[in-house]
Amino acid sequence: MVLRTARRLARTLRGPRSQGTVVPYDMFEALRTDQEVRSARKMEGIYHKGQDKAWDGKKLLAELVEKHGGVQLDPEKVEPLKRMFAVIFWGELAAWKVSAELALEIEPLEAKMAASSQAFDEARHFYVMHDYLSLLGYEPEELPPAGNRILNEILQADSLAKKLVGMQLMVEPIALTLFQLVRENNLEPVLSELLSYYERDEARHIALGVNYLPQLIKKMSPPELVDFYIWQIRMFMIELDGVREMEEDFRALDIEPRQAIRLGQTKQLHAGRLVMRQMNIKIPVEEIFTRAMEARMALDWPVEGEPDERLFRWRKAASALLHNSPGTRKVQETLDRMIAQGIRPGASAA
Ligand SMILES: [Fe+2]
Ligand SMILES: [Fe+2]
Repeated sequence: MVLRTARRLARTLRGPRSQGTVVPYDMFEALRTDQEVRSARKMEGIYHKGQDKAWDGKKLLAELVEKHGGVQLDPEKVEPLKRMFAVIFWGELAAWKVSAELALEIEPLEAKMAASSQAFDEARHFYVMHDYLSLLGYEPEELPPAGNRILNEILQADSLAKKLVGMQLMVEPIALTLFQLVRENNLEPVLSELLSYYERDEARHIALGVNYLPQLIKKMSPPELVDFYIWQIRMFMIELDGVREMEEDFRALDIEPRQAIRLGQTKQLHAGRLVMRQMNIKIPVEEIFTRAMEARMALDWPVEGEPDERLFRWRKAASALLHNSPGTRKVQETLDRMIAQGIRPGASAA
């Protein structure tokens, strides 16, 4: 006992044996292309904008509740809204964890600043959503399977690139889509006004993904790249499982699942195009993703007026996978228009 204590004391006095350093003294030495310098300026801007536009969550929620005389929601919509925003609530925590991990792990100064600013925003989003949902009587509980799975897949992904694409370029565009639809439907006045503040912040987070992801993709070997894109297709399918799981709630909140999928898909693919434009990689990723989505839509969300037969759905799905279907072409045209109009990441087509 005495000997063990003496050894421990000696170890503490001597300090660690390792002579290595974890301080990244070389972080300013990397050579940058013009494109990387431009992206760095944008990410630095994300940090400063985040600071300028930070809002006081406690104060804002109290003001909005007072302004609208409390939460005003049709009693039939309370449970569906609680279930839908429970996904957002836990998603905010997942976004906080991912951004904090990025802030810790990524080296370029500007990207680190942007991720740190995002972690600051997500902490506010998480506690404000908790406070708002408490007003509806929500008690935090486990999410349904698909919602739970998507957050866990991202948090446990085996690379920073997957976490970044999963959170900033797949989940955050979906969150923005729901915020936009709930706000446009004016379901509940306190929430509608609150969400306009969330939307402003989330758009900056997508911009971080758009500007930093190319640097991670450039370092990937071909097998890593294939693994990275297959992982994304799997995530798309789990997201669609999530819509299926909550279809009743979507309809109860006057949101058409197909419309939500289309809007979310456009935001995600637009961010994807902005990433690809910064790189010299020629992989038809967008086309593969769009065809996979069209096939899944044909199976699970048939167009009104079309035969509701299994065989018809499977044929349509197979055709959507093998050819550029009208649905795929329409998505591509919308994206072309968004790029031509210089739409910002996370925003919708004009
Ligand atoms: Fe957020
Ligand atoms: Fe976010």
